[in-house]
Amino acid sequence: MNKRSDEVFVWPLCTRIIHWIIATSFLLSFVTSFDRTLFEWHLAFGFIFGIMLLFRIIWGFFGPNYATFKTFKLKYSELQSYFIEKVQNRWRKIHAGHNAASSWFTLIVLGLGSWIVLSGLLLQGTQEASGLFSRLNAHYFRFSSALLLFHEILSYLLFTWAMIHIVGVLIEQFYHKTHMLFAMITGYKKAEGQDAAVSIVRHLFAYSAIILSMMTLFFVAQPQDTFLTKSLFERRDFKAENSTFYEKCSKCHKIYPPFMLPHDSWIRLMDGLENHFGEQIRENNITQSEQMNIKAYLLSHSAESSSHKLAFKTLESLGEMRPISMSKVPYWREAHKNIDKKVYQSLHVKNASNCFACHEDFEYGILENRRIHIPRS
Ligand code: HEC
Ligand code: HEC
Repeated sequence: MNKRSDEVFVWPLCTRIIHWIIATSFLLSFVTSFDRTLFEWHLAFGFIFGIMLLFRIIWGFFGPNYATFKTFKLKYSELQSYFIEKVQNRWRKIHAGHNAASSWFTLIVLGLGSWIVLSGLLLQGTQEASGLFSRLNAHYFRFSSALLLFHEILSYLLFTWAMIHIVGVLIEQFYHKTHMLFAMITGYKKAEGQDAAVSIVRHLFAYSAIILSMMTLFFVAQPQDTFLTKSLFERRDFKAENSTFYEKCSKCHKIYPPFMLPHDSWIRLMDGLENHFGEQIRENNITQSEQMNIKAYLLSHSAESSSHKLAFKTLESLGEMRPISMSKVPYWREAHKNIDKKVYQSLHVKNASNCFACHEDFEYGILENRRIHIPRS
């Protein structure tokens, strides 16, 4: 790249790569968060984003000249004069390092981003019982909703913040004509100052961080469990837990796990077997004592006794209601609102109660996001 006389080399290749990894990984994890079947990608991009942020924070203390926090301009007066000059002098000269606005911008990205990653990891632990903090699920699952709200609000804030950054760059490019749009690609900025120089040790450190972040893709986005995705919920053997329940209740459909519905819903369901979704289940199908056995089992393993997300989210969303079908649960409706009604009528699914058609691990009492597959018919 030929350097022009009015340009300074501010961003070495590793810095540029890292900038774009931070930007794309955030964008991709933001986009994939809207579809649960892409959950592992959401996680993977989140991990990449997190590792790169951590790197950038360390870089801020030990990195090359223009990257360090001590060169940041954080005084309010500096911010004020930055904007006054920007408005008053279109052809102002800019310095190679961070100006007051970009100093604040970077700090806020690092701050917001760190909280997003941290709350995401905690959420993965409390809600999904998986990943680094999976053990939190047992005692702290009740914090999931609050964590989710926090995680979402901060993500929207960071998204908005990124948009403001893009507008700022476009203003630099087209109004002040400082070639800012290309600076993060070429590394050269139309500014005053000294060229950046990065030592070999720093280069090694930067490229190791890049490789480490990319490796998480492998650990997260693969079908086998790894320490970043392993869930504490194991396959359950309902036959061993209660063979009467298993045999009698799997005649017409696969076994619904007992933690799916609240205590009082199971009472209603078991007391109403005479008219069970249009089927008549009588004593000659399931004897009185078998019914009592099954009912006792269901009641002692109901949603109230579980820290599975299906259990606590169902309870949370039900309030006082105690329906006997998931299709009446607001949480269930919300989770499935984007599914076309025709899909349920398809040959492989048949109806919305056939959870097993799309959640392939549900008959074992698990419900992992990456095991969701809508059958094509
Ligand atoms: C004679 C057949 C039959 C038997 C036996 C039977 N069911 Fe059902 N069950 C149905 C039908 C039909 C539905 C409606 C959904 C469907 O078509 O799969 C249903 C639905 C359900 C649902 C609601 C699923 C949802 O959220 O939409 C639950 C829960 C359930 N059954 C539990 C049980 C339990 C517990 C037993 C054992 C005591 C049992 N069933 C035995 C036929 C049966
Ligand atoms: C036609 C396929 C299909 C059927 C049938 C179906 N689901 Fe789902 N389910 C999905 C899909 C797809 C998603 C992910 C939606 C999204 O977020 O994009 C989902 C999401 C969920 C979630 C949300 C997971 C979370 O992280 O919050 C739960 C819980 C769930 N399903 C439970 C059930 C239960 C219980 C049944 C049966 C009563 C059922 N589903 C029937 C396809 C299905």
